[in-house]
Amino acid sequence: MQPIRLLILGTGGMANTHAMNFATMADVQIVAAVDVDLARVRAFALRHDIANCFASLDEALAWGEFDAVANVTPDRIHYPTTMKLLAAGKHVLCEKPLAEDYAKADEMATAAEKSGLVTMVNLTYRNVAEVQKARQMVLAGEIGKVRHIEASYLQSWLVSKAWGDWSTESQWLWRLSTKHGSNGVLGDVGIHILDFAGYGAATDIDHVFARLKTFEKAPGNRIGEYDLDANDSFTMTAEFGNGAMGVIHASRWAVGHLNELRLRMHGDKGALEVIHTPEGSSLKACVGEGIEKGIWKSVDAGTVFTNYQRFIDAIRAGKTAEPGFRHAADLQKVLDLALVTERERRELSV
Ligand SMILES: NC(=O)c1ccc[n+]([C@@H]2O[C@H](COP(=O)([O-])OP(=O)(O)OC[C@H]3O[C@@H](n4cnc5c(N)ncnc54)[C@H](O)[C@@H]3O)[C@@H](O)[C@H]2O)c1
Repeated sequence: MQPIRLLILGTGGMANTHAMNFATMADVQIVAAVDVDLARVRAFALRHDIANCFASLDEALAWGEFDAVANVTPDRIHYPTTMKLLAAGKHVLCEKPLAEDYAKADEMATAAEKSGLVTMVNLTYRNVAEVQKARQMVLAGEIGKVRHIEASYLQSWLVSKAWGDWSTESQWLWRLSTKHGSNGVLGDVGIHILDFAGYGAATDIDHVFARLKTFEKAPGNRIGEYDLDANDSFTMTAEFGNGAMGVIHASRWAVGHLNELRLRMHGDKGALEVIHTPEGSSLKACVGEGIEKGIWKSVDAGTVFTNYQRFIDAIRAGKTAEPGFRHAADLQKVLDLALVTERERRELSV
């Protein structure tokens, strides 16, 4: 079996996770890396034992000796680079969010559909076995009709230095600036928690109302070329396609939580709670007799394949897989509408 030749585009923080995951697969060869920062791409190639380095995607495309790409560039670079890759017939695992707005995400999804290539979005928390199991339990009717959903994504990197110093490092500063293509916490991790909630509850968001806030973080809310104008906390009320009501929120100011996703789903026959933190994940259920006394029991969720593995499997199978570009574009629509509801202060239908 010929190995799948993979190129990593963008060699910053998250690219290391891609490289480490793909390196574990015997049938994948990471053949090249690309970054506009030549020193960074060279150091990355050395660290991960990658033979070829390029300072632009165009140079890599001219060379052409790869089948698939992990696109790990900043959010606003996903659209122009992925469109070129699809035109060149390369399979793409694109980082989230797919683009900065629905119009571009929709264009990418349409191009993906026409291409017949494998096109997936790295909604990482699909790798959490507990949310997969929770979804199965919902679909099997184990908690009955879902009535109420509570989902949060809490980070604290604006307060702690656990992940580095946001005020001096470009990888955090671009996430705080709309001019640099960021939709703030909403675009960055809002997309994860919308996916986590909708996937876990096996439904989509139907109506949305959100409030977003950007807190003062520096004199004039500016550091160098970065205007710190992107939101860093949001709260959202949502109505889901299955009729459930829900609250979804996220913040970078959540002291005490480095990276925590929480999903609670309450149905007319029971309830489920999924928690994911860097230390691990848990799934608890309150069903049957437990309902009377509010007793929650742990559920074993087993293990699941990662998006990285499923991307490679999909290429081998010649058939694209979820989470795909269309799903990510649909989530982007909710994010766009959330921004409109903040401006207009009224609920909108998706
Ligand atoms: N799925 C997840 O859980 C997860 C986690 C972290 C980051 N991300 C996503 O991954 C992406 C990258 O995030 P990061 O934290 O690694 O950012 P980063 O700033 O650390 O790295 C981005 C890299 O892309 C390079 N780059 C910029 N323009 C480029 C271009 N035109 N061609 C090639 N390289 C280019 C930059 O020089 C930089 O090295 C973002 O979209 C982010 O949302 C996803």
